[in-house]
Amino acid sequence: MKLTIDVRARDGAARTGVVATPRGEYRTPVFMPVGTRGAVRTLAADDLERLGVEIVLGNTYHLMLRPGEERIDRLGGLHGFMDWSGHVLTDSGGYQIFSLEPKVDDDGARFRSTYDGSLHHLTPERAAVIQAALGADIQMVLDVCPPLPSSADVVRTAVDRTAAWAARGRAAFLAERERRLGQGRDQAQFGIVQGGTDPVLRVESARRTLEVGFDGYAVGGLSVGETRDQMVEALATTMDELPADQPRYFMGLGDPVGLVEAVHLGVDMFDCVLPTRLGRHGTILTSAGRMNLRNARFADDDGPLDPALDGDGTGRYSRAYLRHLLMSDEPTAARLLTLHNVAWTLDLVARMRAAIEAGTFAALRREVLDVWATPRS
Ligand code: GUN
Repeated sequence: MKLTIDVRARDGAARTGVVATPRGEYRTPVFMPVGTRGAVRTLAADDLERLGVEIVLGNTYHLMLRPGEERIDRLGGLHGFMDWSGHVLTDSGGYQIFSLEPKVDDDGARFRSTYDGSLHHLTPERAAVIQAALGADIQMVLDVCPPLPSSADVVRTAVDRTAAWAARGRAAFLAERERRLGQGRDQAQFGIVQGGTDPVLRVESARRTLEVGFDGYAVGGLSVGETRDQMVEALATTMDELPADQPRYFMGLGDPVGLVEAVHLGVDMFDCVLPTRLGRHGTILTSAGRMNLRNARFADDDGPLDPALDGDGTGRYSRAYLRHLLMSDEPTAARLLTLHNVAWTLDLVARMRAAIEAGTFAALRREVLDVWATPRS
């Protein structure tokens, strides 16, 4: 099921459009909050609906271990389980497993569960079958994502394995899709480009991924330790190789500068734990930059979190009150600050869509960089 993007407007390379799936449509650029274990932490499906979230991300690694993909399958897939009628995308698990120092060989990755220490083996085939059981609208192929900086050898091996796994993962996906289509369930699968910051490897990885042929394409292996300039350059090189009529997804990016720079280069989809993680720890995103609400200067601040943002459902509460909840370890603080940061990020992305339509994206990009970019010498 090749997903195509119906581009409604362009401004330079930036574009806004609509992706149609059997579930419905989502507008791009789109930000996907991360619901690793089947919930965006501290939130539930009705919160996501109120926020206007169009697509959330779930994680194969955590969900296969707990509660297990078979149970989720029996309970209606992630949509039924979460009672969420919007879109879901699941990441393949590779990225998370690699932080656990797995034993990786050509066949797959062996790792221990963080929950009970049990041994597991994730192969490209298993990742496809598990994600079919989870029932997301879009699944990701299993890939190898080295941290940066890594040696040239490590990045080369990652590109080779990722390409071999892409072919195996695609074949397994197509067989499983055939089987499930009979039950009225359809799913798309995206390929992932690796290659670190090496332009030659990026182009090679993109071409090998395209040769396999996926329903959409992701840029992986970036925002993992490289500088912003390296990231932008590697992204630009990759984007030149990706088909213009399909969605292009930058995995694991969600800071304001990263978002405007990637949209500027034509990226359509994003996910990141940053807004939710920062919120839980008391850092808020605002039109004047990020602020740590624990700071004593907010103790008597009667204003809302961000006066420029309305409609996030937290505007009625003062910074002083939310700071008090935070300092008192009230779970409500984590929840309200999460709501705020997700709303703020969605609003930024909505403003980008509107700016692309109005032909004013350059001005919005400048505005975001002025507030958020660290000064460069
Ligand atoms: N999340 C952030 N980066 C990556 C990546 O390179 N691969 C996968 N599978 N997930 C990611």
